[in-house]
Amino acid sequence: MKTILQHIKQWSSRDNSWLSLPCAAAALFVLLVMVKSCQGIVYNFSNECKIYKLGYPIEEARALVAVLSDAQADTLIAHQEHDTIAIPVIHARYFIADNFSRYLAYHKKDTTGAPLSNIIAFVNIGVDQDRETSAVPCDTSKGQLMLVNGRHYLDENYKPDSLATFSKSYCYEEQKAQRVVVDAFMALQEACKEQTDAQLMVNSAYRSYEDQIGTYKRNPKGYAARAGSSEHQTGFAIDVTSRQHPMRWPFDKSEEGVWMREHCHEYGFILRYPERQSHIFGFAYEPWHLRYVGKKVAKRIHEEDITFDEYYAYYIDNKGLHAKAQSR
Ligand code: DAL
Ligand code: ZN
Repeated sequence: MKTILQHIKQWSSRDNSWLSLPCAAAALFVLLVMVKSCQGIVYNFSNECKIYKLGYPIEEARALVAVLSDAQADTLIAHQEHDTIAIPVIHARYFIADNFSRYLAYHKKDTTGAPLSNIIAFVNIGVDQDRETSAVPCDTSKGQLMLVNGRHYLDENYKPDSLATFSKSYCYEEQKAQRVVVDAFMALQEACKEQTDAQLMVNSAYRSYEDQIGTYKRNPKGYAARAGSSEHQTGFAIDVTSRQHPMRWPFDKSEEGVWMREHCHEYGFILRYPERQSHIFGFAYEPWHLRYVGKKVAKRIHEEDITFDEYYAYYIDNKGLHAKAQSR
């Protein structure tokens, strides 16, 4: 069978070449119609079209396809219904594309009416996953940004390479921490003394895995992490009160306690367990527990009013964000 092109060639080579132009135009038209209908058939199989058919406006279908992997789009399509939070989720602050299906699943199961920002936070930090099976070893190569919690654990042999000792004037018994922490605390306490006239004191700093076993047993539920899940084992955490208010709770309301919470980020510290996280993360509000993360990160965490767990999930562990940054 001759192809359309062969016909065109044959006709144009004949004498009746006056016919060749309309013929060629007609052939081209047929070709275009065929291409168009093929495109239509292909489009019908595309994720954009399938999502559109679920009831999403076309711009929303395009927005979803732009951020989701094929597997995630398949999950959305498999739901066979218009999921009301799909679009708010992809536009939410701290959205992580890899977690898309988990946000939808969490929202479906949630009976508390959790706001979207909480759903994003819960899923990003892994609250939706089984703690035992989803736990991973802490990535200690992150140094002062390593994350230690119930899902990122240190083994019993982990010990910081070197520890410095706090001056006796600032603790009741010997306390050690990473060198940067001791130096940053000295700057913090000096400024605090100048501003409030009170003397900050380190109650507890580095604790080994074995020390933490004892701490866990001695403290009420929620106030101490299990051994392996405490960032005191990293040497980057310190528990601080003041000589004027040595007990944790009056310290919380004291002038120096308030000052410390408001200014510690200027010295590289964050309040690791702020009040707003306690119902999310399970750890009680600890106005005395500071974690050193360096000034740049501490400033960002303070300004964005997020926890270190949320910071780590979005800014450190988020492959999509790093890929985007690299492609810029
Ligand atoms: N107090 C905190 C949770 C710890 O034990 O590390
Ligand atoms: Zn602590």
